[in-house]
Amino acid sequence: MQEFLSSLGQVSAIIGAQWGDEGKGKATDIVSEHFDVIARACGGANAGHTIVVDGQKHIFHLLPSGCLHEGKPVVLGAGMVIHLPTLLEEINTLKEFGMDILPRLTISNEAHIIFDYYKELDAKLEELREQGIGTTKRGIGPAYMEKAKRSGIRMESLNKDISGELESAAKELNKTYGLSINSDTEMTNLKNAQEVLGGCVTDTVTQLHGYLKEGKTILIEGAQGTLLDIDHGTYPFVTSSSTTSSGALQGLGIPPNALKSCIGIAKAYCTRVGEGDFPTEVEGEAGDRLRERGGEYGATTGRPRRCGWLHIEDLQKAAMLNGITHWNITKLDVLDDEDEIPVGVGYNGDEVIYEQIQGWKASTVGMTKFDELPQNAQRYIKYIEEKTGVPVALIGTGQGREEMIIKS
Ligand code: GDP
Ligand code: IMO
Ligand code: MG
Repeated sequence: MQEFLSSLGQVSAIIGAQWGDEGKGKATDIVSEHFDVIARACGGANAGHTIVVDGQKHIFHLLPSGCLHEGKPVVLGAGMVIHLPTLLEEINTLKEFGMDILPRLTISNEAHIIFDYYKELDAKLEELREQGIGTTKRGIGPAYMEKAKRSGIRMESLNKDISGELESAAKELNKTYGLSINSDTEMTNLKNAQEVLGGCVTDTVTQLHGYLKEGKTILIEGAQGTLLDIDHGTYPFVTSSSTTSSGALQGLGIPPNALKSCIGIAKAYCTRVGEGDFPTEVEGEAGDRLRERGGEYGATTGRPRRCGWLHIEDLQKAAMLNGITHWNITKLDVLDDEDEIPVGVGYNGDEVIYEQIQGWKASTVGMTKFDELPQNAQRYIKYIEEKTGVPVALIGTGQGREEMIIKS
């Protein structure tokens, strides 16, 4: 454990290597215990990060999953797009759980606000597409559209009167899409948020650089996954933000040379929610088996996730794009019953070439030591290390916080 922790350095990022839902939340929760500050950088409430502590499930959409560790500052960075009622709901849920996050929460003044009507526009855009993307309908696309168009409204405006901006947005929305804005709801949402969050909005870039100067350690929790990246993912079936480690640094205003390690999170198989190519997808009985064993239903939308096998090329690409220094292979236990595990290793034309790895047919649930794993499970992990050239540091063996092997 100590060896693993000291290899992470002052700033480390946790980044999804596939199409999201790899188990970033659980890794963040565990690793953040050993970091001083936890930050989210990009994306919004399209994310759904699950952690299970003492049998209780918590799902975070906007707050970083490390927030259950008392006393640690949590930061929402400039690259984020924030739906205020969702954030208030999350803060309230924590309060009911007995935790007041407000005194240690800061939100970048540069982050963009997601209004309710962005969600309607998200749905409308999906309807207008010949081939839908299968978005989460959380208003993410419209928020980044407004940002790139340079007409977005940022958190710095939380305490200002923005009725004029909303009025001109309403006119444009109505003219272009026949949608209307419920200004009363939007203004009420803003007012509620202002009362609770007014004191949290700040220049988080200066704040984070202050922490760096003091020698504090910072853990960055990525959202979505590398294959959903707006530039390097399976465009156009991607999200609208940069989901890589570089995107996360940009989102927080931390320079690239500050990042000392990157933990790539990858399932021992693969899932995708939403539309788009998924070359190693398996339908039918095998797909259903993975879905049921893995509980593969979206943490944000409840949609059944498409399931398939690990694709080594995805991991190689993710390692390359993010500078992954350690893997966390999650949900190894989900493969416990498989006779043989196919792994995609490339293509013959459009066809995926598979190698068959011998299954272990024994329970790995809850294991915490690498040596306890069945020989074939150890071989599976070593196979991933060999194919990707990146060491596996963490192996997930269950949903719970303690169900993790720390290998090095
Ligand atoms: P994230 O978006 O990357 O944080 O992942 P999600 O929370 O959306 O989905 C991951 C799901 O897998 C959650 O339900 C987790 O509780 C669960 N999970 C994470 N790691 C493991 C593991 O090692 N084994 C099992 N069985 N479940 C896991
Ligand atoms: P976490 O952080 C899985 C997918 C959506 C859709 C595409 C675009 O929990 O891993 P969007 O609403 O972002 O415009 O949708 O991206 N998507 C995710 N899939 N996990 C996520 O987040 C996702 N965030 C977005 O399903 O295919
Ligand atoms: Mg998720």
